[in-house]
Amino acid sequence: MQNINYTKNIEYKVAIVVISREKQLNALNKEVIRDLEIALGEAKKSKNIRSIILTGSGNKAFVAGADIKEFKNFHKEQAFNLSQTGKVKLFDKIANFQKPIIAAINGYALGGGLELALSAHIRVASKNAKLGFPECSLGLIPGYGGTQRLPKIIGQGLAHEMILTGKMLSAEEAHRIGLVNHVFSEDELIEKTLDITKSFHTKSPEALSSAIKSINSCFINSGDSVESQEFAKLFETQNFKEGVQAFMEKRKPNFNK
Ligand code: CAA
Repeated sequence: MQNINYTKNIEYKVAIVVISREKQLNALNKEVIRDLEIALGEAKKSKNIRSIILTGSGNKAFVAGADIKEFKNFHKEQAFNLSQTGKVKLFDKIANFQKPIIAAINGYALGGGLELALSAHIRVASKNAKLGFPECSLGLIPGYGGTQRLPKIIGQGLAHEMILTGKMLSAEEAHRIGLVNHVFSEDELIEKTLDITKSFHTKSPEALSSAIKSINSCFINSGDSVESQEFAKLFETQNFKEGVQAFMEKRKPNFNK
């Protein structure tokens, strides 16, 4: 697990999973997704692990999105597969995980990074966190379940605004609209998140697992394949090529209107 730092906190019965690709702001490429899947498998089978904290390395980013450099030359079918495989291997697995998963957002949670946090059962953030969906500025849309999970968490109107405007929210704004449950200082993020996990010790593990399954069952992801198809379709547009090129050149995109 080259891209993940996995530690067990025995006192709290927690696995702390840190995405460790700091120089690229923990962007999710194929290897990170594979390593996260392995880490979850490890946590699943450990009897002394009751919950998981997912966070990013460094103090700048939780995850700044899917790795744009990895998919910049993809065609439609590859894009569809990226979206579907990511969901099956990781995002849906997190959402349906039998043990509680808390995303501790320690900086930028953008695009695929915010989608990762949305898949978790509980979200907390440090004061410096910034959350948003910049995909439309790349000529894209979220492809890892963001268009499905965001409206269920914050409501359709706010979800439309966040995705269509690409506006980044501060931790406090995210807290106000229910996108994150708590905001902690940067220094205390992990400590306070560990405190939340203590309450799981006094609950039946089977009951927690059934509660997750039952809560999820009221949110059937009927639009999931629509999202993957729309995501993939955009890879054929000139505006997507321009959006990605502009990101690589660190400039604003010049889209055909
Ligand atoms: N993919 C690939 N590389 C990324 C990345 C990403 N999503 N985000 C940051 N990086 C890389 C940068 O390219 C840069 O690498 P180099 O040093 O090799 O140039 C490094 O991380 C540091 O980033 P910046 O120099 O850009 O740092 P900054 O402080 O100036 O800006 C930022 C920070 C605002 C987060 C900026 O990096 C940014 O806008 N990142 C992209 C955010 C984004 O668009 N995310 C959505 C991706 S698409 C997606 O996620 C689709 C999906 O749903 C499946």
